[in-house]
Amino acid sequence: MNNILITGATGNVGFEVIRFLDKIDTSKRIVAGVRNINQAKSKFAGYPKLNYVHFDFENSETFDNALSGIDKVFLLRPPHISDIDKYFKPLISTIKKNNIKKIVFLSVQGAEKSKIIPHNKIENLVREYGLDYIFLRPGYFMQNLTTTLISDIRLKREIILPSGQAKFNWIDIENIGEAGAILLNKFEDYKNQAIEITGLENESFGQVTSLINKQIENPIRFRNVNPFKFYRIKKREGMEKGMIIVMILLHFLPRFQKEPVISDFYEKLTGKKPTDLKTFINREKKLFETFHSPDQI
Ligand SMILES: NC(=O)c1ccc[n+]([C@@H]2O[C@H](COP(=O)([O-])OP(=O)(O)OC[C@H]3O[C@@H](n4cnc5c(N)ncnc54)[C@H](OP(=O)(O)O)[C@@H]3O)[C@@H](O)[C@H]2O)c1
Repeated sequence: MNNILITGATGNVGFEVIRFLDKIDTSKRIVAGVRNINQAKSKFAGYPKLNYVHFDFENSETFDNALSGIDKVFLLRPPHISDIDKYFKPLISTIKKNNIKKIVFLSVQGAEKSKIIPHNKIENLVREYGLDYIFLRPGYFMQNLTTTLISDIRLKREIILPSGQAKFNWIDIENIGEAGAILLNKFEDYKNQAIEITGLENESFGQVTSLINKQIENPIRFRNVNPFKFYRIKKREGMEKGMIIVMILLHFLPRFQKEPVISDFYEKLTGKKPTDLKTFINREKKLFETFHSPDQI
């Protein structure tokens, strides 16, 4: 058997994992586990060999069928799912029941240090069920600039966050996807390891704002606000409460933590340097230019 199920296939990292799997090995059967097969098919129009199965983290009735015949799973936690006992315990148990032993789980850098974050709980579940695993623990996605933060950048010409001078490790999801695809392919070589994958730079939002401004015409600014003000602003703009809390935790807590450790795993795995911020900004700079209404985003 050589059947790999990719969860979160239509998201940032899942898409990249499929793109790289398609490039590096054509002999494996890749199955995208998705909530909406028709939408996924249009997203993956350029991947005619990709297979699809209905899979919903929030509907355990979809698990058995999606896992049938699979021998490896690329697992991620969709950002809105935080109740691990409710959603991941039944899933991991069904994975075990289907005799699937190999899991590559997209975790987060530092997951081992905090018992309250969902990734820590999922890693523990995978171990408790005796599955073989690779925990891939990335730094802060560069693509947060072009997704979650893009609306403020384009419309208000600012990045507004409670992150102060905190430094984040910036990694390109293309690098994560490539590493994920290689690890799925060479699972035995890395099994039962937790691997940090980072970019080359630890930078604050102030520093990243300056780097962006070097490459665009209409400058943006970084506005640091306290978490209460951030909450009020985002609530007024209509952001969901849960999402605002996640944003605060992700950007405020690093102010009290040590700088992230920079790992050379990507370079060792691929023989290439990970993307640096200058290159990423140059690649995506059109997205940072001015737009005047949300419809244009
Ligand atoms: N952002 C960061 O800087 C960062 C850093 C380190 C780790 N992480 C971790 O990375 C993970 C997120 O990865 P990502 O950015 O690739 O995610 P993403 O782009 O938000 O995509 C989420 C994926 O999950 C799917 N999904 C959502 N709910 C589902 C459900 N009920 N059943 C089946 N599929 C469902 C979505 O499919 P649909 O197309 O159906 O919506 C989508 O494919 C999180 O666990 C996050 O904590 C993030």
